[in-house]
Amino acid sequence: MNVLIKDLGNHVDAEVTIRGWMFNKRGSGKIAFLQLRDGSGMTQGVVTEPELLEIVEKMTMETSCKITGTVSQHPKKDDVFELQVTGVEIVHVPEEEYPISKKEHGPDFLLDNRHLWLRSKKQWAIQRVRDCVITAVYDYFHENGFIKIDTPILTPNACEGSTTLFELEYFEDDKVFLSQSGQLYLEAAIMSVGRGFDFGPTFRAEKSKTKRHLTEFWMMDAEAAFVEHEENMEIQENMVVFIVERCLERCKKELEILERDTESLTKIKAPFKRLTYTEAIEDLRSKGSDIKFGEDLGNDDEVTLTQDSDVPVFIHKWPRAIKPFYMKVDPENPELVLNNDLIGTEGSGELIGGSQREDSYEVLKKAIEEEDMEGPEYQWYLDLRKYGSVPHSGFGLGLERMVRFVCGIEHIRETIPFPRMLTRFRP
Ligand code: 4AD
Ligand code: MG
Repeated sequence: MNVLIKDLGNHVDAEVTIRGWMFNKRGSGKIAFLQLRDGSGMTQGVVTEPELLEIVEKMTMETSCKITGTVSQHPKKDDVFELQVTGVEIVHVPEEEYPISKKEHGPDFLLDNRHLWLRSKKQWAIQRVRDCVITAVYDYFHENGFIKIDTPILTPNACEGSTTLFELEYFEDDKVFLSQSGQLYLEAAIMSVGRGFDFGPTFRAEKSKTKRHLTEFWMMDAEAAFVEHEENMEIQENMVVFIVERCLERCKKELEILERDTESLTKIKAPFKRLTYTEAIEDLRSKGSDIKFGEDLGNDDEVTLTQDSDVPVFIHKWPRAIKPFYMKVDPENPELVLNNDLIGTEGSGELIGGSQREDSYEVLKKAIEEEDMEGPEYQWYLDLRKYGSVPHSGFGLGLERMVRFVCGIEHIRETIPFPRMLTRFRP
């Protein structure tokens, strides 16, 4: 019977077949230990029969194979099972030596071989955490009255400023851009469905060569009618807590492989800390920074503001001058907007950007004009403020930033199967 490695525990003492790859082999002449993986998990096959040992002799690293054996429980570990091998069928022996070995490889070599590197244990674990985060996002929103709305990727307008747009020719004499965020379209959709979220690839032609930036990344935008600034932050913190709890529950093995300190993840509970931008600037200055009101926060500033906190920190109500046109002006201070960034702990940086949206036709029209963005591409967006405008808010979660945080890994490039960055779009 064919079974998945993850299900071996249900078949103790039975003879089963697993289908996968041999990623390592050890042993002497009389016994061989095959390290096997099939995508669902990893196990060991113990080979002692002489005629099987002869077949196993031909198997090099990454040989694909079907291994039959009797399932036994590890003598010391409850949840570890192995196979006493009774049959070996080779599917394919690598034609050359597998290029990724146990020795240390540099990042460029690994990225050039990303198509193979994905098979490594750590990379396997990261992709599984990624899947868990994606599923948690869907579950959180569906449990909270949001429906999935797919927003377009080819767009005639800019959501997050014109300087980071990827431009494409659209047939003979038109041009379009790759979406930076589905937000504007989601705002239209929630005037129909009330609460919605999208989840898809977004693009930024950002010349940032950091450990937190990709040029193609996946964003989840959420948007809700009749939700205002405070409630918007509550939805964000509840979602982050939900995602982290889900990963702690379902990705124990993966987080162990990644050597993630899960202790700090268990402390991610609501409420998160809230600091206004103004307070954040004062705090930074009191700690010796020369940052001035009106300047954007840098990576070091984000680290300073979160280093003493067990929970992520909201920095909210930023100066209007450095934020996008669509954010609602703070009724208490026209210099500020009702927005927030959510900064993760342990130096993970910005995970979420969100805001209440400007719902006044006149104020929004003026903001669009001030940014020299007038024209038909924004008229439909203004229309939403013309026909039954309501207060509404939303936010965008960067999937790879969240995965990086949950996994506790240094560089964002490992969180996406095939990273696209300033200097890399291959393989
Ligand atoms: O803060 P951002 O730019 O916000 C928006 O795009 C809003 N329209 C979202 C909304 O309100 N619906 O981007 C949202 C998040 C960031 O907080 C960050 O996590 C991630 O997207 N992000 C990136 N991730 C990887 N590489 C990049 N270059 C990123 N730029 C933003
Ligand atoms: Mg942002």
